[in-house]
Amino acid sequence: MKVIVTGAAGFIGFFLSQRLLERGYKVIGIDNFYRGKYENIKELNKYPNFSFVKRDLVKDKINSLFKNVDVVYHMAAVNGTKHFYDNPLTVLDVNVKGTLNVLDAVASNHVRKFVFASSSEVYHNADKIPTPETEKIWMEDTRNPRFTYAMSKVVGEMYTIWSSKIHNFDYSILRIFNSYGPRMDTSEYGQVVPEFIKKTLEDKPFTLIGNGKQRRSFCYVDDTVEMIMRSSMVKSTILNIGNDKEVTMLELAKKIHKLCNKRFVAKHLEPREGDVTRRIPDISLAKRLLRYSPKISLDDGLNKTVSWYAHSLSI
Ligand SMILES: NC(=O)c1ccc[n+]([C@@H]2O[C@H](COP(=O)([O-])OP(=O)(O)OC[C@H]3O[C@@H](n4cnc5c(N)ncnc54)[C@H](O)[C@@H]3O)[C@@H](O)[C@H]2O)c1
Repeated sequence: MKVIVTGAAGFIGFFLSQRLLERGYKVIGIDNFYRGKYENIKELNKYPNFSFVKRDLVKDKINSLFKNVDVVYHMAAVNGTKHFYDNPLTVLDVNVKGTLNVLDAVASNHVRKFVFASSSEVYHNADKIPTPETEKIWMEDTRNPRFTYAMSKVVGEMYTIWSSKIHNFDYSILRIFNSYGPRMDTSEYGQVVPEFIKKTLEDKPFTLIGNGKQRRSFCYVDDTVEMIMRSSMVKSTILNIGNDKEVTMLELAKKIHKLCNKRFVAKHLEPREGDVTRRIPDISLAKRLLRYSPKISLDDGLNKTVSWYAHSLSI
């Protein structure tokens, strides 16, 4: 079976490609290295069934790459909260136009299945927590750049659904909640787990946004990619992907300090406009349809992640 993984040089794209290759799939990876890493592609190139094509999904021609492909896992996007504020137009362009170009290639090459990485951000300030897939989607204020990402994912979902109906292919829309693990971006454009680990390991001043009582759930990347892979076997649907165990940001920060053997001292920053206080998925539909529930506890996952960063940052 031949599949495409867009965003293969990125965090989830790398682990998903690796898992697919280990299970015997032929994988074509596409990325433009906006946030992806060359070392990830170097690692994937060790598998004989992997091939990589450097393309920008917005600017380059991609159609011919999709010939005889069975499943497309569309993971490429501009992600990372600081990008939403600093580069809102790029977020919209890549996540909407890039997705549209991939969908055109899927339709014209008669690809059987399109798996779209959407996001928990589409729920924004959900009334129901844990949040099921039936929860309303709404945007608070189109003038706040925070919502460029969520909006781009909502538009991506709608393009996916209507392209699939009109061009007759199957889809899985995955509303992914925080995933974490090794190989995540540690720059200021990265996400919270690697940011916390890097600051702690490097003894940088440690800051928490707001009072640290915001509640989130974190899913170790091995569980995330297992759920993504399995989603390609189910009929067209929208699924939450994540772990439903809750933790406060303060607890997360303390766990990371403990694993790094560092004393916990934090400075609290002003809360950010548009941030939500609690975000937890209801994953009962995913558990039932995918016959899988996350296996790796936060303590085990953080342990693996901290060890990886301690080694890769050579601390
Ligand atoms: N990591 C999470 O916790 C999380 C949560 C919710 C949703 N998601 C979604 O899952 C997907 C994967 O996320 P991730 O954390 O691996 O992000 P990532 O930034 O590590 O990976 C995305 C990849 O897309 C590539 N890319 C960006 N613009 C491109 C373009 N124009 N052409 C080709 N490639 C391009 C980047 O270089 C990067 O390698 C994304 O769609 C993201 O929105 C992730």
